[in-house]
Amino acid sequence: MLRALEGIIRETVFMCGIVGCIGDRRATPILVESLKHLEYRGYDSAGIATLNGAEIDVTKIEGKICDLETIINETDNACVGIGHTRWATHGVPSSTNAHPHVDCTGSIAVVHNGIIENFQALKEELTSKGHIFCSETDTEVLAHLCEEYYNGDLEQAVREALLRVEGSYAIAVISDNEPDIIIAARKDSPLIVGLGAGENFLASDIPAIRKYTNKIIYINDEEIVRITRDSVVVSTLQGVKVEKTVTIADGSIIDAERGGYEHFMLKEIHEQPKALRETMEDRLYELEGSIDFKELRSLEDEIKGIESISIIACGTSYHAGLLGKYILEDLLRIPVRVEYSSEFRYNNVLSGQKSLAICISQSGETADTLAAMNEAKSQGYLTLAITNVVGSTITRKADEILLTKSGIEIGVAATKTFTAQILILYMFGVYLARLKKLTDVETSRNIITSMKSVPGLIESLLDNISTIEKNASRIGETDCCYFIGRGLNYPIALEGALKMKEISYIKAEGFPAGELKHGPLALITADTPVIALVPEGKTYYKMLGNIKEVKARNAYVIAIANASDDEIVKYVDSVIRIPDVDELFSPMLAAVVLQLIAYYAAKYKGAEIDQPRNLAKSVTVE
Ligand code: AGP
Repeated sequence: MLRALEGIIRETVFMCGIVGCIGDRRATPILVESLKHLEYRGYDSAGIATLNGAEIDVTKIEGKICDLETIINETDNACVGIGHTRWATHGVPSSTNAHPHVDCTGSIAVVHNGIIENFQALKEELTSKGHIFCSETDTEVLAHLCEEYYNGDLEQAVREALLRVEGSYAIAVISDNEPDIIIAARKDSPLIVGLGAGENFLASDIPAIRKYTNKIIYINDEEIVRITRDSVVVSTLQGVKVEKTVTIADGSIIDAERGGYEHFMLKEIHEQPKALRETMEDRLYELEGSIDFKELRSLEDEIKGIESISIIACGTSYHAGLLGKYILEDLLRIPVRVEYSSEFRYNNVLSGQKSLAICISQSGETADTLAAMNEAKSQGYLTLAITNVVGSTITRKADEILLTKSGIEIGVAATKTFTAQILILYMFGVYLARLKKLTDVETSRNIITSMKSVPGLIESLLDNISTIEKNASRIGETDCCYFIGRGLNYPIALEGALKMKEISYIKAEGFPAGELKHGPLALITADTPVIALVPEGKTYYKMLGNIKEVKARNAYVIAIANASDDEIVKYVDSVIRIPDVDELFSPMLAAVVLQLIAYYAAKYKGAEIDQPRNLAKSVTVE
């Protein structure tokens, strides 16, 4: 019974961002500012706890950080505090379930990102000892466990509490009995500490505290950290001191402004040419027909001997992986499987000798992908991570990493990171094909030449989007729509549907066009617009056949076709043109069109584009 309940609660998980600060400045504005940078991790409720020496003051609310700002105490002069922004997969977000959570006396406050899997058993045990619980969360047991074990030493109490816990956590704890420290710890959820002068910070990631410091310490699993104004001491859960290296965070303070765009998503769609150019920079050697990944040099022999590849990812990254399969199998002539991270890790994974696991995660923090990568490693796979975030957990766990250089992506809907992931998979294909001596200079030179043309072509596409906007408004009026494509453009159809549903809430599905007659055709009516991906290529005429099938069922068909295609207008109701491009790269241009269709359909419907309901940018729980 208990196991079953724990199973249910595993579904009722919280995925969140945590922050903390201690120094001589007012804590509240720092906590609020830091939390704003973590809203990508969840935004259904938020809270802070500050310590003014005498007692803990908790402020929390259902809603976003901007809602929290409306109720915070402007006269609070506390210089120590912790904060939280929350995301729940199930259950009603409420101020009661919002963090921080406190013990029975309100003397200890805890914020938590992760899942306490054995919380039900712990809750029953603590309740039988007289502890009174207020919320439905797993996190509250941590506050009561710390209370139970508190004996004048908060660090020791946290340590003992965590030794009782199964699951994942990044936590920060304060107590009014020890007003000059924050205790934090992590296991399977990210946590960093930022070092200042006479002040220190903690957070789920660097951007949250980058404004205050660039000196960062990464906390590892099962480490606990004692933070005061002037010191940061890290030890293992077992109490062994750990020497940490201080890393200097790259770059300037992250500019999370919309730069004149109405939404981050639109800004990020327009940033794609830049993101792609930067991802290619210093890696392409057109004349030689080669691609140089300096970061892979030490593994070159091993990579060369790879006989199969598994691509592992979630959501949009999975769609990039599907496209990667086409390209890698074509160039390398070895089997490439693509699996959802959440499926891969629970399968009876085959031995990975001479196999490469390419784990794709823009955030580098997706819990399922990290767990799948661990599983792959333990089965002997060589692991290669493709990510956009320097210093993310995946970069520290993979054998090697390939960075996309898209810059920070704020909109929950992945856009510029998606096309950069596709690009880097193409680049990796050419790199490995040359390494294995499977292509000649001329063939790979031609691919590189086309590759280099893509950013410019996307620019010209972005210069004229009026047809896209017009068609998107039409879709905005409907309840559902379908995306069809074949071959390289089938994953793009899936991605178009995902974008549409996540930001506009319109029911959308993507299909391989050849599959329509095996079932999905039953869904087609005059009220279901079909977006058909028909760029020039080997399946062009097959696509025309599929378009006829849906037209015969009265669907309104919007084609995405090449600029020079004079034929397509005879078959469809509307045509969105993409610049002529090598067949290999048409999916990247089509992807940009579908991002814009989803964006303008969502805008037409008045949806909340950058922070769609029930979602979060980074999914840090399984
Ligand atoms: C994309 O628009 C989604 N928000 C989502 O599917 C995302 O791609 C997925 O959660 C994987 O994230 P990751 O790339 O950070 O691992």
